[in-house]
Amino acid sequence: MSVVQLFEAAAGTYDQSRRRLIPCFDEFYGTAVDVSVPPLRAALAAGRTPEVLDLGAGTGLLSALVGAAVPGTRVTLLDAAPAMLAVAAEHLAARGVPHRIEVADLAAPLPAGRYDAVVSALAVHHLDDAGKRDLYRRIHDVLVPGGVFVNAEQVAGPTPALDRRYAEVWLTQISALGSDQEEIDAAHQRMAYDLPAPVGAQCDWLTEAGFVDVDCFFKAWRFAVFGGRRAGD
Ligand SMILES: C[S@@+](CC[C@H](N)C(=O)[O-])C[C@H]1O[C@@H](n2cnc3c(N)ncnc32)[C@H](O)[C@@H]1O
Repeated sequence: MSVVQLFEAAAGTYDQSRRRLIPCFDEFYGTAVDVSVPPLRAALAAGRTPEVLDLGAGTGLLSALVGAAVPGTRVTLLDAAPAMLAVAAEHLAARGVPHRIEVADLAAPLPAGRYDAVVSALAVHHLDDAGKRDLYRRIHDVLVPGGVFVNAEQVAGPTPALDRRYAEVWLTQISALGSDQEEIDAAHQRMAYDLPAPVGAQCDWLTEAGFVDVDCFFKAWRFAVFGGRRAGD
C-alpha cells in the first residue's frame, strides 16, 4: 500500500485524531495562518480576490483556517487522495469558503495561477529531499511578488540522538492526550513512509529557491512552521 492509499483509507476518521496526534495543534496551525494572512489582506486591499494554494491539503484543515482568517479568500486544494479532498470539499462548502479541488501529485507541475500564499501542513515530508527542493523552487515560481510560502511540517531532528528524543517526546505526549494503541499503530504505519528533513536544511533550501525573510516561526520538538516570502517587484 502507498502512503496516499493509507490516507485514502483513513479519510473518514482522519480528523478525529488530529488534536491527539499533534499535541501543539493550536499553535502549529495558528502560526501557519498568521504567516499567510498579510499578503491575503494586501490582495483584498488592492481589490483582488486573495488566492491560496494548499499542498497536500487532505481534509482541508489548514484551508478552512486560512479561509476563516481572511473571508473572501479562494483556496485551491491539491492532494493525491480523492477521498481526503471529498471530506475537505464538504467542510469548506459548509463554512462558505470558495474553493477548487485538484487531484494531483506534489511532484507534478503545480496548478496554473498566481498565488498570494502557498500553504502546506504535514505533507511535504512525503517527498525525498531532492523532491522537496524541487517543490520549493516551483512554489516560488507560482507566488505573486510579495507572496508567502508557509510549511507547517513534521521535521527530523538535526542529529540522530535528537530525532530519537523527538519520537520519545511525541509518544509520551500523545499517550497523555489519550491516543490508544490502535491509533498509535495506525500513525506509525503511515509514518513508516515519512522522509522528514531538519528544519535548518529546509530553510536553506528555501533561500536557495529564491525566498527572502526565511524563518522558522514556531517549533515544538518535531513540529515546525517555517517559510519565506517571494521578494516584491
Ligand atoms: C498528514 S496528511 C495532511 C493533510 C492536511 N494538510 C492536514 O494538515 O491535516 C498528508 C496528506 O498529504 C497527501 N500526500 C502525501 N503524499 C502526496 C503526494 N506525493 N502528492 C500529493 N499528496 C500527497 C496525503 O494524501 C494526505 O492527504
